[in-house]
Amino acid sequence: MRVALAYSGGLDTTVAVKWLREKYSAEVIAVAVDVGQEEDFEAIEERAIAAGSEKFILVDAKKRFAEEFISKCIMANGLYEGEYPLSTALARPLIAEEVAKVALKEGVDAVAHGCTGKGNDQIRMDASFSVLLPGMRIIAPIREWNLSRDQEMEYARKHGLPLNFRESRFSIDDNLWGRSIEAAELEDPWVEPPWEAFKYVAPPSRWPDEPEEITIGFEDGIPKSINDGKMDMLTLIREVNSMAGRHGFGIVDHIEDRVIGLKSREVYEVPAALTLIKAHMDLEKMALGRRFLEFKKLVDAKWADLVYSGLWHDRLREALDAFIEYSQEGLTGEVRVRFYKGSMRILGRRCERSLYSKELITYSRESMFDQRDGASFSKLWTLEMKLQKLAEMGWEKKRPKGA
Ligand code: ARG
Repeated sequence: MRVALAYSGGLDTTVAVKWLREKYSAEVIAVAVDVGQEEDFEAIEERAIAAGSEKFILVDAKKRFAEEFISKCIMANGLYEGEYPLSTALARPLIAEEVAKVALKEGVDAVAHGCTGKGNDQIRMDASFSVLLPGMRIIAPIREWNLSRDQEMEYARKHGLPLNFRESRFSIDDNLWGRSIEAAELEDPWVEPPWEAFKYVAPPSRWPDEPEEITIGFEDGIPKSINDGKMDMLTLIREVNSMAGRHGFGIVDHIEDRVIGLKSREVYEVPAALTLIKAHMDLEKMALGRRFLEFKKLVDAKWADLVYSGLWHDRLREALDAFIEYSQEGLTGEVRVRFYKGSMRILGRRCERSLYSKELITYSRESMFDQRDGASFSKLWTLEMKLQKLAEMGWEKKRPKGA
């Protein structure tokens, strides 16, 4: 049997290589997909081969990830449960798609992934594989074998699998949009995550004493420049990640509801994702009307929910994306932000299609606003409330003027 395995180089997938060989005498093609995780892919290749893979294939998908997935997430202000920028969730359909392409090219008998049976990733990988490769057998060794992380480590040690066991105490998923950190002491929701768990966000001892400001330029809802310097999405995200991270901004620590019904404590470092989504939301407030914003919030939340739940290929997600894209027309402008000592603050914004009118809102004498209009407006605005009161008191009692 030949199997294409989505390989990350971590504990789960390395154990999976060995197990696929032992259990199924499988010939394993390890497929690593570069979605912007800053990893040494040569070392990953060596590990895949040392664990027993016949072949290692590296697919560079980071540009696609940035342009086709992350850009959508920014336009949708994608935050699951209002907190998590979906970094892991968003990459799964892309990773699965790239593995599926290899699977078709190599004519394999099955595809495999290293997800456990407790998480969301299994659902996302299964979903994408079954949509893209209908009828293909899917093997998930860790799930099938029902292994715990400790048992996996023991198995890896016993078979001399080449892993960094100190690092392996955390379960980490890393890509351009963010880094998810789980397991070990983080499983106690009361315990503060140790600073050593973070890779992009600096600890307080290294926070610069001087604040740093940048201007992020958006075109039709998509960030395109920093301080007037145009750059592609990949470079832009890297720049924001390192600047925000250097100042200690970008940690999310929240209690998350997994698809299968478990609550889990999740820790993320997502400096660029938080900065860009917050800046984008701010710009939307300049350009979209009140009812539009209200409605888009519902759409955004549904979008995040679908992506989180592994339903990327659902037509509803595509339909929501069409609405979202329409909503972004003319969302061209700039947002100025400052990073300082663990925080990010929006300092200013301007937008081409702004609904904000200084002439009308101003407190100064030049205001074009005719305040006399206000009186009739509030009379009608409160009409129904007054009628309610009348009904309560009995209509026969004195009717106030205007009701
Ligand atoms: N809870 C997050 C999600 O479902 C992160 C999962 C992290 N995956 C991992 N292998 N550590 O998207």
